Parts: sequence; structure tokens; C-alpha cells
Amino acid sequence: MRVLVVGSGAREHALLLALRRDPEVEGLAIAPGNAGTAAIADQYDVDVTSGEAVTKLAQRIRADLVVIGPEVPLVLGVADAVRSAGIACFGPGTDAARIEGSKSFAKDVMTAAGVRTARSEVVDNPARLDASLDRFGPPGGERAWVVKDDGLAAGKGVVVTPDRAAARAHAANLLESGHPVLLESFLDGPEVSLFCVVDGETVVPLLPAQDFKRAGDNDTGPNTGGMGAYAPLPWLPEDILTQIVDEVVKPVAAELVARGSPFSGLMYAGLAITSQGPAVIEFNCRFGDPETQSVLALLETPLGQLLYAAASGNLADEPPLRWRDGAAVTVVLAAENYPGRPRVGDPITGSEADGVLHAGTRRRDDGAIVSSGGRVLSVVGTGADLAAAREAAYRVIKSIRLPGSHFRSDIALAAAEERLAR
Ligand code: AMP
Ligand code: GLY
Repeated sequence: MRVLVVGSGAREHALLLALRRDPEVEGLAIAPGNAGTAAIADQYDVDVTSGEAVTKLAQRIRADLVVIGPEVPLVLGVADAVRSAGIACFGPGTDAARIEGSKSFAKDVMTAAGVRTARSEVVDNPARLDASLDRFGPPGGERAWVVKDDGLAAGKGVVVTPDRAAARAHAANLLESGHPVLLESFLDGPEVSLFCVVDGETVVPLLPAQDFKRAGDNDTGPNTGGMGAYAPLPWLPEDILTQIVDEVVKPVAAELVARGSPFSGLMYAGLAITSQGPAVIEFNCRFGDPETQSVLALLETPLGQLLYAAASGNLADEPPLRWRDGAAVTVVLAAENYPGRPRVGDPITGSEADGVLHAGTRRRDDGAIVSSGGRVLSVVGTGADLAAAREAAYRVIKSIRLPGSHFRSDIALAAAEERLAR
């Protein structure tokens, strides 16, 4: 089969590497890709937000399967366009993608499905902001205010803070630029990202992972798109994993079917494991970055066949997934000033090493690989356990040179040292 992957990040680079290991995948294409993906797939330029452009490209290169990486094309209906041309597509249509595209839609689905999540309020009128803030945050016993952009914000629309003035300022800013705001109760506990391949009511969970959202060590600094991840989670009991699948993902998948918008693709549940059990922080409608880099590094099941089965409505017939023993740790190398406006255009050395997945990179006319985005690349290390996987990832990332760049030094550290409760 010929597979076209849409997107340009390290997640797409990881998808390509896993697809390449599938003996049934004979052709691999990527659009628009980056300097790293160009080395392993035919690369095409495309406007990823245009259903027509993506469909035309898929037809031209005779793709049997299109895999859409990022959320924006999914929310805009690119998967619908590809499917209506009769091409199998891994990724939900615009209706089901609202589980990520609209936080208030996701809340509504969770309420209907009886899924535990944070208490929330949507604020669209600045005059009501103070009264709403009073119903959340530290005075009521919670550790912090949680203020979110109700729409898509690449992981950067969220402010979690014990400082009421900072919470208020973020909310007021969003409202001023015309974005409805979602206030949420603070969920306390370690976070889990559980990716499930979903086809209607059929749910196949992948290995659980943990993402590191803050820019700095010890979870300091602003929220980012993700600075590192590891899988699996040795501290997460098997029964909690089963509970997440049975009490969170399956009911939400069933609710979407009942609403006439069945989900087909990757359903990503982001949860906090609170003292009262798992509670949903968010749903995404696609593979998460950087967790995908860790999870797929351990997948033995041929990925192309798995995604094709989901995309063609045959997921229920697939054999159980197979995984490599051991652990995988991913560390993101970010450009100077990320998650603010990143410095770009600097030459990178050492990015050809094994385990390096490219994101914000491009090849200059003179052949040099230069930075072109905030998250520049990720490094995946694998090993018998988290400590060995960490060592492998950090050995490589320390050998890469990019002026002004930064990475977190504590990815998977607490779990490797068994400091997270079992
Ligand atoms: P989101 O974009 O909704 O995933 O939020 C980004 C990050 O903010 C999450 O990964 C959490 O670390 C944090 N966060 C979001 N919502 C909450 C919440 N209700 N309670 C605690 N932390 C949260
Ligand atoms: N890992 C966070 C995200 O992909 O949204």
C-alpha cells in the first residue's frame, strides 16, 4: 500500500518511521514535511488546510491511505474530503473532530456520556468574568485557576495559575480578541495521555504515555506544545488503564456514534489521575506530540495495516497489538525564546544522528539544515527501562548544536526514580 502522511512535525516523522517498518507499506509520501522527513519519504508541498488540495495530491500519487497528523486540517474537514473521493483516510471528519476543536462540545459529550472531567463555565461576556472567577480558584480550596481558550490554540491557550490577577489578565485578553473563555476547576494528580485507535465503537488503546507541558525543569515556566514524553508508565496500575478505556474512551466513542458523528482515527484522552480516580483534562482528535514519538518507538504491530483497518471500518477484526519490551523517552529541542516567538534560521549540527526526529527544520539552498520553528526536533531514546532510555535520549540531544536552543533535563526523571505513586 502507498501511504500519504499529512503534516510536518516530529510526530509525522515518527509515523513515517513506524509505517516504513510495515512490510505491506511499499510507498511513503509526506506533505509538506521537513528536512528530516525528506530523507525517508517522497515529499510534496501542499496546503494542509485545503481538503481539495490534499485529495488531489492523494489521487495524483495514487495513495491507498492518507494519515492526517495535525488537528487543524481535521477540524476543517480535510478527512471528509479525502474519504468522499473514495480514498481511505485515518482521521476523523469535521463533526467528530469537534471533540478537540471545541472544548465546550467536548464537555457536552462527556456530560452526556457520564465521563468525569473538570467542572467548567464558558465566559463570553467580560462583564461576567469576575463573578465567574470567584466560582473557581484557590479561595474555593483549589490549587489554581485554569483559564483556556475555547477553540484550538496549539497547547498554548491555557494558563494554570494560583494568581488571580494573572488568570484574569489571560481571560480578559482572550475575550478582547474575540475568543470565548473556558474556566475549569483544577484537577490534581499526575497526567496520562492515552491514545486509542477508534473506529465507531471499537476502541484499541496504545501504550499510555506522559507528556511534559511546561517549558522548564520541575514544571516551571509557560505551557508549550510539549517538551518531552515517555512510555509506558510503570507507576500506572493496570486497573486504572482499564478504567480509562471502559469508563472514558468507550462511552465517548459510543456517544459520538449516538450523535451520528462516529469517530474514526486516533482519540487522545488527556487525563489527571486524581485521588478520586481518572478525570479528563482534554480530548484531542489526533496523535499527540511528543508522546507519539515514544509510543510508536515501542510498537511492533505493523502500523500501516492497523491504521488502514481503522480507516476502512475493519478495526474490530485486528489481532491484539504487540509491543517491544522496555521504555522510550523523547526529549524536545526547542528554539531560543520558544514558546514565545522563536528564533529561526540557525544552522543545526548533529541532527542526522539515530533517534532524531525533525520538526521545525528545513534544508537551505546551500544544503545546510536550519531551524524553522519553535520545536525544532525531538530525540527518542529506547532501553530496557526508563533510566536506560533517558540515557540514550540525553546522550544524543547533548551532541546536537543549535545556538540559543533549550531542552528540559528532567523528562521521565521522577518515574525513572520511582517518585510517582504506584
Ligand atoms: P490542555 O491544552 O487543555 O491540554 O491544557 C494544557 C495543560 O494545562 C494540561 O496538560 C495540564 O497540564 C494543564 N491543565 C489543563 N486543564 C487543567 C485542569 N483542569 N486542571 C489542572 N491542570 C490543567
Ligand atoms: N502532547 C500534547 C498534544 O499533542 O496536544
